[in-house]
Amino acid sequence: MVGIFSLVTGMVGPSGFGSSTTAEQVTEGIDASNLTIIITGGASGIGLETARVLALRKAHVIIAARNMESAKEAKQLILEDNESARVDTMKLDLCSIKSVRSFVENFLALNLPLNILINNAGVMFCPFQLSQDGIEMQFATNHLGHFLLTNLLLDKMKQTAKSTGIEGRIINLSSIAHTYTYEEGIRLDNINDQIGYSDKKAYGQSKLANILHSNELSRRLKEEGVNITANSVHPGVIMTPLMRHSSLLMRSCNNMLCCSASKLERGNWEVLFGL
Ligand SMILES: NC(=O)c1ccc[n+]([C@@H]2O[C@H](COP(=O)([O-])OP(=O)(O)OC[C@H]3O[C@@H](n4cnc5c(N)ncnc54)[C@H](OP(=O)(O)O)[C@@H]3O)[C@@H](O)[C@H]2O)c1
Ligand SMILES: *[C@@H]1O[C@H](CO)[C@@H](O)[C@H](O)[C@H]1NC(C)=O
Ligand SMILES: *[C@@H]1O[C@H](CO)[C@@H](O)[C@H](O)[C@H]1NC(C)=O
Ligand SMILES: *[C@@H]1O[C@H](CO)[C@@H](O)[C@H](O)[C@H]1NC(C)=O
Ligand SMILES: *[C@@H]1O[C@H](CO)[C@@H](O)[C@H](O)[C@H]1NC(C)=O
Repeated sequence: MVGIFSLVTGMVGPSGFGSSTTAEQVTEGIDASNLTIIITGGASGIGLETARVLALRKAHVIIAARNMESAKEAKQLILEDNESARVDTMKLDLCSIKSVRSFVENFLALNLPLNILINNAGVMFCPFQLSQDGIEMQFATNHLGHFLLTNLLLDKMKQTAKSTGIEGRIINLSSIAHTYTYEEGIRLDNINDQIGYSDKKAYGQSKLANILHSNELSRRLKEEGVNITANSVHPGVIMTPLMRHSSLLMRSCNNMLCCSASKLERGNWEVLFGL
């Protein structure tokens, strides 16, 4: 409840920031010019605002998107602020194993470092459907695609952390919705069960998988002594195209409650930047 109270009032927390604080305010004074960052789903919503502000702070931002048209528009928007901003777009469809693999191949071929990976893309509450690989869509997109992506990029991130001495970051956009899932948690033995499918619980399940994966990865990185952290964040309630499958009631509640994507909660930016 404290969370909702401060979300609505915009009251600042101990950090001096609150739900009405913008990403620009939080990152003020940060020079990210030595950082290369991949943001999945960086063409809209939270991902776009993240990409915009990181580019503003001089990072090299790679927007990984399935829709190259909107990725191009996102890039254009960022270049309007600064025509020398370093933004690239690359094709990535997370619900396709083949696409994840070819994205990584293309990225590695560029011979760039990789400091930060933001696993932001996601779908929410969509009706039952299978991905190209025959896996329930929310689990395939939100968890499996990112799982594979992260694992395929991990060596590159380790090399970068080692050669630059800069701590690497893996950030997963999870959700408070991870608490609302199937009785058994994640239905690993029954991911594709259409009869028992709940669009809400399937979303919660995929977001729970994000958190568990982050936690375990984080543990392993520490054990290995690698200078990379893995964290999950709940971004708060933000009106974005993600709500397209939500009911009208929920969408209007969100409209009243929520902040716009440019007002991300401070807590999450702390994780992003280690402030
Ligand atoms: N907004 C909230 O209140 C809220 C709350 C809790 C958690 N989150 C989490 O925050 C993250 C960002 O959400 P958002 O609100 O910014 O939503 P959004 O505006 O819908 O952004 C999601 C992005 O993911 C992309 N995407 C979807 N499926 C993809 C796929 N198969 N391959 C590649 N990209 C794909 C979308 O691309 P298209 O445009 O092509 O669909 C879109 O660019 C999500 O992980 C979400 O679960 C959001
Ligand atoms: C970026 O890297 C260069 C070379 O290592 C270093 O001299 C410079 O201080 C770094 N800039 C920032 C803002 O960390
Ligand atoms: C524009 O972006 C480039 C590349 O990040 C940066 O070097 C430059 O300082 C930026 N210009 C302004 C006015 O912020
Ligand atoms: C989150 O974290 C791990 C890496 O820690 C990744 O493989 C997992 O699937 C990620 N999920 C999302 C959506 O970020
Ligand atoms: C890990 O990263 C932090 C922050 O960038 C840096 O201060 C530290 O020296 C790094 N440690 C190693 C062992 O590279």
